[in-house]
Amino acid sequence: MATPAPRAPRAPAASERARNEWLRRVEAEYRSAAITQELTLWLIRIAASPDLILDGLRIVKDELKHAELSHAVYVAGGGSEPPRILRETLGAPRRARDALEHDVLRTGVEVFCLGETVAVRLFRELRAQCVVPPARRALDRILRDEVRHRDFGWTLLQWLSETALGDELVALAGRELPSMFKRLRASYAPRGAEQERELPPAERAWGLMPTATYGSILAQVLERDYVPRFARFGIDAAAAWDSAARG
Ligand SMILES: [Fe+2]
Ligand SMILES: [Fe+2]
Repeated sequence: MATPAPRAPRAPAASERARNEWLRRVEAEYRSAAITQELTLWLIRIAASPDLILDGLRIVKDELKHAELSHAVYVAGGGSEPPRILRETLGAPRRARDALEHDVLRTGVEVFCLGETVAVRLFRELRAQCVVPPARRALDRILRDEVRHRDFGWTLLQWLSETALGDELVALAGRELPSMFKRLRASYAPRGAEQERELPPAERAWGLMPTATYGSILAQVLERDYVPRFARFGIDAAAAWDSAARG
């Protein structure tokens, strides 16, 4: 008689926290899709390079796919609530009196250069111990796409810096960086988050990680990504970070 093939280990049941986290990710992916759609429309209005516009449209599709995959994880974990989509957060703020290029710069730097750059390293860590199949499937795809989303941000900043308004836009990025860092720290490293240093393997299996890890990854990203990448534009990200920490 043939020996039966070893059975794959059964996935641990999803905790309430894992379910909530994946539903929150669905909401975040909708927000990313909406912001990118708006930014891409602005890129059309300022007659940006068609390559950038096409990259933006492709990112919108990616974000919707991420929402769908994240929702599948939520359902696999036993969730059945609809996502709580806050309509007023689904878009990029427009500051009416400024040139549209200023808003392109603000959104491009904050959402892509900062947000998608840290996302690459965060998702890599979330995926490292994730073994539950739908969660792993979602994180595989998200991580693959985030690398391109990060690159889109830096290519956009490069393109903006080479336009007629280039010097003004790079100076604006330098001025706004401290407040952008402040918001980034508030979302990934809020006070108290450093207390949770470990999570049970079952939570990690569903693609979660301890809250302290978000802050330590953010500190690594500052050193390895933000400082060298902004330095190419003559922007001192370490000084901006220190001023955000003081303010
Ligand atoms: Fe995404
Ligand atoms: Fe993304």
